Amino acid sequence: MHPDLDKVLITEQEVQKRIRELGEQISCDYAGKEILVVGILKGAAVFLADLVRYISIPVYFDFMAVSSYGAGSASSGVVRILKDLDRPIEGRHVIIVEDIVDTGLTLNYLVQSLQSRNPASLKVCTLLDKPERRVAKVKVDYNGFDIPDQFVVGYGLDYNERYRNFPYIGVLKRSVYT
Ligand code: PRP
Ligand code: MN
Ligand code: MG
Repeated sequence: MHPDLDKVLITEQEVQKRIRELGEQISCDYAGKEILVVGILKGAAVFLADLVRYISIPVYFDFMAVSSYGAGSASSGVVRILKDLDRPIEGRHVIIVEDIVDTGLTLNYLVQSLQSRNPASLKVCTLLDKPERRVAKVKVDYNGFDIPDQFVVGYGLDYNERYRNFPYIGVLKRSVYT
């Protein structure tokens, strides 16, 4: 385990097992259709890369990058699009892929933005959900794990852009971020 961590919350094996289940569930739910997965950069990149390898129906990728306005760690709920989708999504079956839903403010904005573009359907898939922290009401269709309100990193999740490459989810030591 990395020395900046207190503990491993979800092991690599547990992460992979759950992603396989999610991929199989999605393949089943959308059988006979094509889907477009929209990864939210940068955190979702690792999850998306593994998830799509467990999906057995035709799957297309696109990506968005967003940033919350305002300084400080508290999100204002106002989101700015830094990189939009490359193509229109009208008439397509879209799944937003996130690494974590925390306050839900990012996702709430994304759902509204994508829904207004008239997809055939729109669902949300996240690896992690921190329900205790929710501010905006958002519907999560596929969720890997509910986690407690702890500072987690790894598997795409960062602290100051670090630790995204860990193959597991770990709890960051308090001393690292205080
Ligand atoms: C993180 C995470 C989600 C979002 C969740 O992204 O990857 O996208 O915050 O927070 P919320 O539910 O409170 O809106 P971040 O803005 O840190 O960018 P990153 O993905 O590049 O790390
Ligand atoms: Mn993110
Ligand atoms: Mg981040």
